[in-house]
Amino acid sequence: MWGFIHMYSAKMPKNFLWGGAVAAHQLEGAWNEDGKGMSVADVMTVGSATKPREITDGVIPGKNYPNHSAIDFYHHYKEDIKLMAEMGFKALRTSIAWTRIFPKGDEKEPNEAGLKFYDDLFDTCHQYGIEPVITLSHFEIPFHLIKEYGGFTNRKMIDFFVRFATVCFKRYKNKVKYWMTFNEINNQTSFNNDFLMATNSGILFKDGMTDEEKEAAMYQAGHYELVASALAVKVGHKINPNFKIGCMINYSPVRPLTPSSDDVLLADKFEQRRDWFSDVHVFGEYPNAVEVYIERNGYRPDITDEDRIVLKEGTVDYVAFSYYQTTTVSSEKVKPDDLTDLAQAIAKNPTLKRSDWGWEIDPEGLRIALNQLQDRYHKPLFIVENGLGAYDKVEADGSVHDDYRIDYLRNHISEMEKAVELDGVDLMGYLTWGCIDLVSAGTGQMDKRYGFIYVDKNDAGEGTLGRSRKDSFFWYKKVIQSNGKDLN
Ligand code: BG6
Repeated sequence: MWGFIHMYSAKMPKNFLWGGAVAAHQLEGAWNEDGKGMSVADVMTVGSATKPREITDGVIPGKNYPNHSAIDFYHHYKEDIKLMAEMGFKALRTSIAWTRIFPKGDEKEPNEAGLKFYDDLFDTCHQYGIEPVITLSHFEIPFHLIKEYGGFTNRKMIDFFVRFATVCFKRYKNKVKYWMTFNEINNQTSFNNDFLMATNSGILFKDGMTDEEKEAAMYQAGHYELVASALAVKVGHKINPNFKIGCMINYSPVRPLTPSSDDVLLADKFEQRRDWFSDVHVFGEYPNAVEVYIERNGYRPDITDEDRIVLKEGTVDYVAFSYYQTTTVSSEKVKPDDLTDLAQAIAKNPTLKRSDWGWEIDPEGLRIALNQLQDRYHKPLFIVENGLGAYDKVEADGSVHDDYRIDYLRNHISEMEKAVELDGVDLMGYLTWGCIDLVSAGTGQMDKRYGFIYVDKNDAGEGTLGRSRKDSFFWYKKVIQSNGKDLN
């Protein structure tokens, strides 16, 4: 007999890592300074909400490559980190630009000037008690490795990546504790999307390739990346046993458009086909559904017995993910057994509002994501991206009243807190994407803004690069100060 109802409620952890996230290529600029080489991000032009970015064959004079100068964080990082410290950041996620350390990617010796830049950057973070959270590969593959080796379709890429990771682990052994190997490794399941294939895996498909050829290449590249990641995890733990090394996926819980069995099965198949990467990262083995799918299609990727041992030995310490939206699928578009190109299954969710770039807004989806990932992996989780890309208006006095951004973040944080406090999810931290305005990865725009800190620069590349505090800056400061209690 229950005499009373006991309401259990955990609290947000005291050492919760509140902060923000960025990536080297989207904010540093200085694309060819101090020995830095050309990365895939350096050959991507500016696009828009409706116009995709072009990936050119090298840098072509006269084209607009927004990442070349970005917000010039390379020369402004001290003032920028000071502003983040003013908000009370406990952590800042960024990446190490591979091409600052190995300009072409296949050199034997690293570039000292590049290593030194990150020494100074991490020292500046620590000066303010900000923990650096570092991604090793965030859409920054050296262009030379793409042209010469075909990106991650080539097994040699494993050695190049592991060498890069090892140099970083050794150099920043006492400065960085939290690492991630590949950003949004599962993006490449959209094998028909040239942008995602180039940025994720360094693959530039030749004209006329069939869907089957593209999908086969994706499974091969994905496998080599997973082996590279596992080897890096092993090496990293040897260099410093206190390192926490995680994987990073783009997580978007999948919903059936209707309760029909076909829609539900399609949602399951979609999920199996997209999110198996983290299964390999966490469990060290492929899920059966993927093995069978690969086999059934006759793809025969090069997966050796030795690779399988490495995958088992290099499992991750935590699961990091970005969350922007949920995905809804409909069997009216494609039948579950015919699913190959995932994009074809996606339907509009009629219950959700969308951002100006068409991204569905679904705060409850974040709680669902946290519960699903916790149940599946039993590992600490880390939200390393979440946020709203929006147009901002600067008032005559320089202020930016971005209450839409505050609303978005408030609703998501509130769902996150329910996941921790009511559902018992083990969560390490919450890092908002693009805490300072930066170049959008998907469109190359500056005017798709996520930041608390406004940067005066527009899509055409004009502006003073001046930094200023938006209303959300003061709001997030209160959120952090109150450990997430004060969301007003
Ligand atoms: C994630 C990436 O996919 O989404 C980031 O890891 C990216 O690099 C972010 O910037 C938001 O996407 P976008 O296209 O709005 O910049």
